[in-house]
Amino acid sequence: MTRNIGILGAMAQEIDEVKALLTEKTIVKIANREFVVGKINNVRCVVAFSKWGKVAATITAALLIQEFAVTDLIFIGTAGALADGLKVGDIVISKRLVQHDLDARPIISRFELPLLNRVYVDSDPDLTALAGRAVSNLINKGVESMVGEEAVKEFNLNPTLYFGDIASGDQFVNSIEKRDEILSLLPDVLCVEMEGAAVAQACLEFNTPFTVIRTISDTADHNAHVDFGRFIIEVANAYSRAIINEIMRLV
Ligand code: ADE
Repeated sequence: MTRNIGILGAMAQEIDEVKALLTEKTIVKIANREFVVGKINNVRCVVAFSKWGKVAATITAALLIQEFAVTDLIFIGTAGALADGLKVGDIVISKRLVQHDLDARPIISRFELPLLNRVYVDSDPDLTALAGRAVSNLINKGVESMVGEEAVKEFNLNPTLYFGDIASGDQFVNSIEKRDEILSLLPDVLCVEMEGAAVAQACLEFNTPFTVIRTISDTADHNAHVDFGRFIIEVANAYSRAIINEIMRLV
């Protein structure tokens, strides 16, 4: 089957950089969302801004799957680090996704997805491995292959790639208390963001393979909002563009 890869990003500017990679573009608008259909390195792709939060991202993912018949879905964006040792500029690729704000106790256990009998949704192993090869190639080439030397110095970038659990919730986490609360309940989680687990649930229900790639933009503490904006503009956009380009080169 010809691959038709859906790419979602959580920031408008970031996804604009990815859209710029597309050739033979067609734009389709549905539900206040713009889907750009085309090719990256000769691979058929549909690229869209997910919008923020779990509900918005679920709508966008469901449209991508149902209206554009994507064969795979890649979510790319930034996240706040939860695990010790992770630093700004590192990259996390999902093994499993969990919604840290889902709690239907006492009917079912904390974090359990209603009627789905599970807490975690696994990302697709093959797509995850493919994303991992792409990121490793870029790291091996040197981070300067993704961003300019000035940003490398300014943000002290020396990226490490991790594979692990990602937690999502409708909250920008920017306090040590909230960070610690999530970690105490979900100790394997590496980072926190606002969409991945919702997209994972949509992909599970539609039986669509997916993976989530997140660049660490902050450490989810009281400095999170300060770091965030500058990092997106100066680093995350360029990372996303380079990573998606490299994935499509390897497909
Ligand atoms: N995305 C990037 N940083 C985040 C944070 N600290 N909390 C939630 N989502 C994020």
